[in-house]
Amino acid sequence: TENFNVNEASKDKQLEQYRADDQGEKLTTNQGLRVSEDEHSLKAGVRGPTLMEDFHFREKMTHFDHERIPERVVHARGFAAHGHFELYESMAPFTKAKFLQEPGSKTPVFVRFSTVAGSRGSAETVRDVRGFATKFYTEEGNFDLVGNNIPVFFIQDAIKFPDLIHAVKPEPHNEMPQAASAHDTFWDFVANNQETAHMIMWHLSDRAIPRSFRMMEGFGVHTFRFVNEEGRAHFIKFHWKPVIGVHSLVWDEAQKISGNDPDFLRRDLWENIDKGNFPEYELGVQILPEEEEFKFDFDVLDPTKIWPEEIVPVKLIGKMTLNRNVDNVFAEIEQVAFHPGHVVPGIDFTNDPLLQGRLFSYTDTQLIRLGGPNFHELPINRPVCPFHNNQRDGYGRQTINVGQVSYHQNSLAGNTPSPANPEEGGYVHYEEKVEGRKVRARSESFNDFFSQAKLFYNSMSEAEKKHIIDAFSFELGKCKSKDVRQQVVEMFGNVDTEMATSVAKKIGVKPPSSTQVNVTMSSPALSQSNTKKSPET
Ligand code: HEM
Repeated sequence: TENFNVNEASKDKQLEQYRADDQGEKLTTNQGLRVSEDEHSLKAGVRGPTLMEDFHFREKMTHFDHERIPERVVHARGFAAHGHFELYESMAPFTKAKFLQEPGSKTPVFVRFSTVAGSRGSAETVRDVRGFATKFYTEEGNFDLVGNNIPVFFIQDAIKFPDLIHAVKPEPHNEMPQAASAHDTFWDFVANNQETAHMIMWHLSDRAIPRSFRMMEGFGVHTFRFVNEEGRAHFIKFHWKPVIGVHSLVWDEAQKISGNDPDFLRRDLWENIDKGNFPEYELGVQILPEEEEFKFDFDVLDPTKIWPEEIVPVKLIGKMTLNRNVDNVFAEIEQVAFHPGHVVPGIDFTNDPLLQGRLFSYTDTQLIRLGGPNFHELPINRPVCPFHNNQRDGYGRQTINVGQVSYHQNSLAGNTPSPANPEEGGYVHYEEKVEGRKVRARSESFNDFFSQAKLFYNSMSEAEKKHIIDAFSFELGKCKSKDVRQQVVEMFGNVDTEMATSVAKKIGVKPPSSTQVNVTMSSPALSQSNTKKSPET
């Protein structure tokens, strides 16, 4: 039973077994009993009370009453499609991941695109980050690349994520606004957590209003590791590059479309796949030898920094094609569970403190969102390779585990772990040497919040700069607190004085003071955290 081949159809074939075509079928209860009538409840007399024994009514109503599950705590609004990934050239010198060995090999994938802040029914063309999450169903298990369409993130440490999201999501007293960046708590968070500066520049740029999911880049954001057969590691960053290029809406269009067609992005994806105009993205990796970890003026573990592509080029290693729409949004798009911790041998983590915290958060949230510990058995989440372990029971268990043994170690069943050798393929974590004192602190090497934000702004064309200033004025202009507006203008004076001055004029606050030289010490909240020294540095 362990012999199987992964090809692009293998996930489709697996899903086939679960597909139920109700069209044209006779209605039955969940017990398979044919029902005679589906419009009237069973009553004592045609004008009398409904009877408790009406099992058909009870079953139908009970199921309906339980149809909703919690929406995702972030990225609630999303859409997805099936496809495959085809490798261009062997990555064997860098990683032993099997799906990255054979040029031409195809791996089935499922990709979910999303907005971050709005609820499940919110408009799709709002200004926001877009999620770009890919599940590769490989022969060694699922590898999830859970990325965004912006290459950096708002914060550096996962412990701030609940704060970030509480500030970004609609405000708790009136649940407004659905759009991420047009309110007081968003900007208050930004001004008091200035590591956000670089991400905010991207967020105010045209990148945050993509024309189509087919025209977006994707980024793994964190630094990951490739590990090859000899155990040698390289730092890497993942990129998706859309074959038809990156395109954005203009703000006026985005706003009108939000009203005319809140489903604009999913409709575009659905219709293009339906027509055979399949979206394609090339997978790129930036590869950095471990010896070069300290070669840069930023920390390669800092998720608020990019590795400039001029310095570390992006190597294109394969192409993903999305060629099949889902059959059922709930079963596939809502129930899919991505996790940056789903890796395969040859891919490993780094000590990026944002990534480290994400490794906890996803399973934790899915335990409640998908109702217990067996969501890996849902059709969309199942790996295409078999899975065996001593886990048992729990809500909604579907596997019928046979035999008497469900523990390790044993001599009765012989179900054992696998060594790491190529034949056996057991996952072994990269043996990174770590040492240090237990501290709650930010590494000093993470303290430059503005250089790359500046670099980003300076790389924009005049038209793009104008879009940023307009977006800034629109979004920050929605912040009611003048004090917060002023703090934000001060903060972004560190990125570009002219830009901040233009924004200040448009939103009725003073231009930034010209004395901001020591850019990382510009707010009391910051100077406190920045003076904490990490003993390691
Ligand atoms: C979804 C947590 C940072 C990309 C989620 C979900 C949680 C979460 C709880 C909901 C998952 C679910 O219900 O299935 C976090 C935490 C972060 C973090 C704690 C930082 C500490 C990031 C970053 C990225 C990212 C940096 C991009 C690189 C995504 C995407 C989804 C998601 C794309 C949607 C997945 C889907 O389509 O189902 N995140 N996240 N997140 N996150 Fe994060």
